[in-house]
Amino acid sequence: MADTHSIITPAIMYWGTPVVLITTENEDGTANIAPMSSAWWLGHRCVLGMGSMSQTATNLLRNKQCVLNLSSDDMGHYINSLAKTTGSAMVSPRKQGLGYEFCKDKFARSGLTQQPSDLVRPPRITECPVQMEAEMMNNMELMHDLPDRKGAVLAIEVKILRTHVRNDLRLPGHANRIDPDRWRPMIMSFQELYGLGPKSTESKLATIDEERYRMLTRSDVVKQGGDMDLVNSEESAATN
Ligand SMILES: Cc1cc2nc3c(=O)[nH]c(=O)nc-3n(C[C@H](O)[C@H](O)[C@H](O)COP(=O)(O)O)c2cc1C
Repeated sequence: MADTHSIITPAIMYWGTPVVLITTENEDGTANIAPMSSAWWLGHRCVLGMGSMSQTATNLLRNKQCVLNLSSDDMGHYINSLAKTTGSAMVSPRKQGLGYEFCKDKFARSGLTQQPSDLVRPPRITECPVQMEAEMMNNMELMHDLPDRKGAVLAIEVKILRTHVRNDLRLPGHANRIDPDRWRPMIMSFQELYGLGPKSTESKLATIDEERYRMLTRSDVVKQGGDMDLVNSEESAATN
């Protein structure tokens, strides 16, 4: 049989994840924005992969608050205006070599608009269709097996405290659901920016009612009323 695969060693493993514009508060009370895409979600937790020298990591470790603003696929000009900038006045030699420059006011640079958050100090970004206010719960240094890279990258666990979504993304008839046909995230794949294509096939997993995941999450995020309350009905069925 012909061998259809061959071995390569990619320098990066960015197989495609949504672009998050993360806002944090600087020491002087101003707001910073950083585009990032090493982010994944489980329940109401998100794990962020961030360079430990970034202004974002410094801010998060100091005051434990951020907003995860998700960008849509029409927001490329905003993302590009923030690419290769850092809110840290100390631009590392490595970053300098990559063409990064210090930018104190990334809202001014990008033209994005601040909007006050409800529960945390960093602002939301008005132009982002999804804004998640979050609190840092934990962090871990990666690459302990490589003495010279140990701690260069952090895995930061945050808890989502409140989610704001633009009304046109909501699934009609449900208080707590997103319509995936309407949510068009910007995806970074190997540093390039893409949108999603249309749904490629019907998903067997999607036959599971979303509310069944809520009890596993044990989230203290306050649920908006309106969807069928599976958690309570299952709990009462178990006690009956
Ligand atoms: C689309 C995009 C995705 C990025 N993803 C990440 C990421 O996942 N983690 C990371 O540490 N940096 C990522 N970066 C680079 C950061 O934006 C960069 O380190 C920036 O200087 C951080 O800003 P700050 O120092 O003001 O926090 C990404 C940049 C772009 C443009």
